[in-house]
Amino acid sequence: MPTPRILMCPPDFYGIEYEINPWMSRSRGSTPERAHAQWRGLHDTLVKLGVQVELLTPQPGLPDLVFTANAGLVFGQRFFSSRFRHEVRARESPCFDAWFAGHGFTVEHLPDGMFFEGAGDALFCGPTLFAGYRIRSDAASHQHLGKTLNRLVLPLELVDRRFYHLDTCFCPVVPGRAIYFPEAFDHYGQRVLETHIDKLLPVVEAEAARFACNAVVVGKTVIVNAGSERLAADLRGWGFDVIFLELDEFIKAGGSAKCLTLRLDGEDAAAWDVG
Ligand code: ARG
Repeated sequence: MPTPRILMCPPDFYGIEYEINPWMSRSRGSTPERAHAQWRGLHDTLVKLGVQVELLTPQPGLPDLVFTANAGLVFGQRFFSSRFRHEVRARESPCFDAWFAGHGFTVEHLPDGMFFEGAGDALFCGPTLFAGYRIRSDAASHQHLGKTLNRLVLPLELVDRRFYHLDTCFCPVVPGRAIYFPEAFDHYGQRVLETHIDKLLPVVEAEAARFACNAVVVGKTVIVNAGSERLAADLRGWGFDVIFLELDEFIKAGGSAKCLTLRLDGEDAAAWDVG
């Protein structure tokens, strides 16, 4: 297996400073020490698994910069920068663009007037790009990417506001296998997933609400937010090791393990044969 590379951003300025999804509550807030310890746990776990973790410098005034999954879509050496729906997050883009430009990527921007939130809503499973739309990204942005990259794009409408990004309700594991929360999709979307993915592992609502689908896959190991025993048993049945991490400080902002990471070896990651 080639060394996986992942981009993370330390939570120095993380906090709940606005409310742009149903998980966020300014009055509840987050506890900085706990958030730091949880983030460090994820970082160190990835390093132990042999991941090369790259770090983006945190910036004051950008509390959600920790969620690097939303920076954009990585495809080979091309970086397609997000066009965030909310202005509070759009301010992150110059930081992400500068990092990618400084690390050998070609930074590309989608046409004006279409929203796109990166690997939060666009995930390869094998050669196919599965793309969540409506709540954050627009279907037009994914069609644009499909044409540009010459890849099949399967648009999936997200129908439950709690699962506002595709990576909160769908997780490719290896080509032909994925985890999902069926009720986050309409019937058409469920059919699309069933038709295009051989083995789909459904998670129950209680586990989906603990961000079970927001998992990070590294080879034969899956890192999952604590509290998803049924999913873990199913994944072990598939021959994967499961590592539970408590990341509830980040659930307060609507994210967990996957949102805190961005694969830099993008499309290759989805095409690996780890069998
Ligand atoms: N508070 C952030 C937002 O609402 C959380 C982003 C989580 N990221 C993800 N890829 N699901 O945009």
